[in-house]
Order: sequence, then structure tokens, then C-alpha cells
Amino acid sequence: MNILILGDIIGESSVKRVKEILPNVIKKNNIDFVIANGENSAGGMGITAKIYKDLVLAGVNVITMGNHTWGKKEIFNIIDNQNLLRPANYPKGVVGNGYGIYNCLNKKIAVINLIGRASMNVLSENPFLVADDIVNKIKDKADAIIVDFHAEATAEKIAMGYYLDGKVTCVFGTHTHVATADETILEKGTAYITDIGMSGPKKSVIGMDVGASVKRFVTTLPERYKVSDDKEVICNGCILKLNSESCRVEKFSRIKL
Ligand code: FE2
Repeated sequence: MNILILGDIIGESSVKRVKEILPNVIKKNNIDFVIANGENSAGGMGITAKIYKDLVLAGVNVITMGNHTWGKKEIFNIIDNQNLLRPANYPKGVVGNGYGIYNCLNKKIAVINLIGRASMNVLSENPFLVADDIVNKIKDKADAIIVDFHAEATAEKIAMGYYLDGKVTCVFGTHTHVATADETILEKGTAYITDIGMSGPKKSVIGMDVGASVKRFVTTLPERYKVSDDKEVICNGCILKLNSESCRVEKFSRIKL
């Protein structure tokens, strides 16, 4: 079983690119299931109903979110859709789902979305303890559990990898938009990577316009962030190969499309 995981899709041009290439990527790599982070897909902040629909039609099975979950008001029209996940460690009672269990071939794949607490500026519950609660709740119902940990601090992400080693199938990081070269299979069998990178414009500062980003750093003056208009879009992600019977990780590799 092959699972394709795509990093944060930044802006409409990247959505377009993902839509264009995904059917062929799925075919060429025998992909059975696709997870993509969509929290930056609408103009860099949030997601719209149209983008959600487009990504699902293109072949994405589950869309995860992050600190920009509420960036577009429209999300409240689609937030209860089972294949759109917002961080599970938002306070109790918040709308939407933080995890889901999905059919893939003859197996059940669980996906959990969590948000970090270090340098994220989001008041969330402890992601480690929330992960424990969810894993305990679903471990007998799912054959594989995949976690998108949307976080800034590499240390927090690495700690999550070790914390969940042997308890889940894969922990992948999102949010920093730059792929890290540390993909590995940890001691107890969990696939781990600190960040899978972005699907976004190549000439950019993590997806955003170079001039505006540089000006902010150089002058400290407020400058509105906008998605880079570079036509060349790079798509970073990973392919997680699981044993089709046991669902144990056989291979975990980075891809750049
Ligand atoms: Fe983010």
C-alpha cells in the first residue's frame, strides 16, 4: 500500500499545479491514498469550499489544516466534512474533526492532525497528551495511524516522533514549508520526518513574495504578505509504503515533483 503525503499547498497556482500532476503521480507510483495539507491553499491563508472540492476531485483523500484553519470564513460550510481535518488539540467543543478513519483497499487508515505549541501563537491543548487520548481511542479500529504535526519548532516535532514511535505508523511535520532531510524509520517502526516541505512557488520565501518578505525583515515595517507569483511551482512530499497485510512501514521516502 502506497500513501502519498503532500506538504502545505500554497495559494491557487499551487492548487492548480497539484490538480494537474496528481492523477499521473498517483498512477505512476501506484498510490492508494493521498493526504495533503491545505491550510495555505486559499491565497496563503485558509481554504475555500471550491479548493477543497478541487483537491478531492483531483485525488486527495484527506486534507489537513493548521494555524490558518480559520483563515477563510467559508471553512465553516465544509468543516464537518469527514475528510477535512483541523488540529485535534483545539479546545474541546470547537467545530470540526481532528482525526478520521478512512477505508483504503481492505484496511482502515486513521489520520490525525495536531498543532504544535512552540512559537505557534495558537492557544491549543497539549498535542502529546491529545495524541495519547486519540491513539488509545482508535488503536483497535485502525490498521495504520498517520499524524500530521503542524508545528514550527524542529525540537517539538522530533520529540513527537520519538513520543509516538511504536504507537503510530507515521509522524510527518508540516508548517515550515522547507523539506528536511531526516526522513527515517524509528526504532519501534514509526516513519518520521520533521517537515515534508511545501507545494508552492519556487522563487519565494516559504511560498510568499520575496520583495514583501525581505522588506519586512529589513525595515521591520508592516508589509502585507502575499503569495509569490512565480509560475514555477515545486511540490514536495513523501511516499509511505506499508505492508499490505500488516500495515507496517516498509519504506519512507521524500519526493519532489
Ligand atoms: Fe502553518
